[in-house]
Amino acid sequence: MIKGFIFDLDGVITDTAELHFQAWKKLSDDMGWQFDREVNERLRGVSRMDSINIIREHNNAEVSEEKLLELATLKNDIYVASLDQMTPDDYLPGAQELLTLLRQEGFLVALGSASKNSNKVLKQLGATKFFDVIGDGNSVSKSKPAPDIFLFGAEQLKLKPEQCIVYEDAEAGVDAAKAGGFYSVGIGPEERVGHADVRFETMKEATLFEVKSAFGELFDN
Ligand code: BG6
Ligand code: MG
Repeated sequence: MIKGFIFDLDGVITDTAELHFQAWKKLSDDMGWQFDREVNERLRGVSRMDSINIIREHNNAEVSEEKLLELATLKNDIYVASLDQMTPDDYLPGAQELLTLLRQEGFLVALGSASKNSNKVLKQLGATKFFDVIGDGNSVSKSKPAPDIFLFGAEQLKLKPEQCIVYEDAEAGVDAAKAGGFYSVGIGPEERVGHADVRFETMKEATLFEVKSAFGELFDN
């Protein structure tokens, strides 16, 4: 029986992809590196250091580990400053309603994000209150597609993977949920999250009603 939900943050609760894009673009421009929305798409769900390595490889650039860390920190400073503009109006449509309903119905809820800035994002949205457990980029060392962040969330909620549904918008995130033995809801196009147990185009369609219908006998009512 499903007792809990674990949510990815970026692309599920709020759309930070644009802010990440602007910050990586600024860094890339300063470095004389090529970076566009297509490359940005490959960073979805991927940790900060893995992201900068993808951009570096895309540009065939030779950069020392130390310099890479410095550049990632610069990008993060730009990104974190841009989060100041985020408000409770910035939930993806449907996300706040779903989190509110899960609370009312007594489900346990965890965050399972790769971002080390999760607490700040949740604070800006006023969403911290919806979560029993916050698993973020500081909670585990192996990032998605490893299942560690979701296993951490389930363990903290005192639930087994098969009692939880994971919401994910990234290919690597759905891979992580499946590797951990979780049920998964994919948010986005078929070519990205078509391997999830159930897929919706956007969060607006991924209501509790629809998810209960899709997973049928896994719910009490
Ligand atoms: C993920 C995003 O949630 O967090 C990625 O989808 C991002 O794009 C990753 O790189 C790490 O985020 P942060 O905030 O720790 O740099
Ligand atoms: Mg995401």
